[in-house]
Amino acid sequence: MNAATSLTFDHLPHPGIVPVSERQALLVDPGFGRVFTDHMVTIRYSEAKGWHDAQVQARAPLQMDPAAAVLHYAQEIFEGLKAYRLEDGGAALFRADANARRFRASAERLAMAPLPEDLFVESCRALVRADRAWIPEAEGGALYLRPFMIASEVFLGVKPSSEYLYMVIGSSVGAYFKGGAPAVTLWVSQDYTRAAPGGTGAAKCGGNYAASLVAQAEAIRQGCDQVLFVDAAEHRWIEELGGMNIFFVFDDGSIATPPLTGTILPGITRDSLTVLARDMGLTVREERYALDQFAADAASGRIREAFACGTAAVVTPIGRVRGEGFDFTIGNGGPGTVSSQLKAALVSIQRGHAADPHGWVERLF
Ligand code: PLP
Ligand code: COI
Repeated sequence: MNAATSLTFDHLPHPGIVPVSERQALLVDPGFGRVFTDHMVTIRYSEAKGWHDAQVQARAPLQMDPAAAVLHYAQEIFEGLKAYRLEDGGAALFRADANARRFRASAERLAMAPLPEDLFVESCRALVRADRAWIPEAEGGALYLRPFMIASEVFLGVKPSSEYLYMVIGSSVGAYFKGGAPAVTLWVSQDYTRAAPGGTGAAKCGGNYAASLVAQAEAIRQGCDQVLFVDAAEHRWIEELGGMNIFFVFDDGSIATPPLTGTILPGITRDSLTVLARDMGLTVREERYALDQFAADAASGRIREAFACGTAAVVTPIGRVRGEGFDFTIGNGGPGTVSSQLKAALVSIQRGHAADPHGWVERLF
């Protein structure tokens, strides 16, 4: 049933793309997640037909039956990856195969039909080719791709859907944090946790983000940029941010990040930075790190830097950490040397300015 790992994409005629002058104006300062391209990809799945009907078509509102399963039981997963403009006007995808693998893993966790990985990558390529004019040229800009899948069976019984709609939309983006934030402040949530052992923390499903919003809203109310979650059992071990993984840089030149125990998202940026840090000769540890230790190490100077990382956030230094009854600064509160070096190493590979020793970059045109 799932045999088709490649399908031919039908390109439907577009009734009217955004005029060039309007598009150019939108690309000047797109922010994050507000400017959308002309096209979208859709692929359907049914138990009877498997994956079928792959289309590149005009971006348009969806028509859905109000009893579609996703609207009731949140059977939904998504991905986030970027296409980068290269200096010669070409464009490249970064580790789309890794996103394809994670999408498959998320599908399995949410009892959804896994999309063949080749088809995932091909769908991303198809959208970038159709919307090539939407890749910003400005430094820090990219075309953010949002592949996602929803349960489309019209049925109110609680069971895995027998039908799915997979889509890819594109958004021209700049920095995730307003003004490109030199360093962000985190708010540690004590009342809310993001994920528990056995839950869906390692899957990229919308439900995880829905569950994080009240904590993120609290962080904003407290004047912070992002929420930092600790583990559900002991409320002590640092896990990750609402939409990013976290790294710590120590005074002995080593770096550490929480291990993948099933409650945090296995970030592709996290993995890439781990590899690049080892290439740079740093020791990288994946180990549990307690919040009270973090505070003590920030005070003693054992921690020199901390940073958040993800596709949207790239590498964003963490300057300060606050919570009920505590408030500490990391290093000098601004970007540190190791964070800056790792960011530069990553970004230069993504943008084709440096060699790509790990084969992460795929030129599309
Ligand atoms: N953690 C969460 C909760 C995220 O939403 C993201 C973003 O995708 C990440 C971590 C970082 O993952 P990646 O580097 O694959 O973008
Ligand atoms: C991403 O980085 O792709 C995410 O999904 C995180 C979110 C903050 C947009």
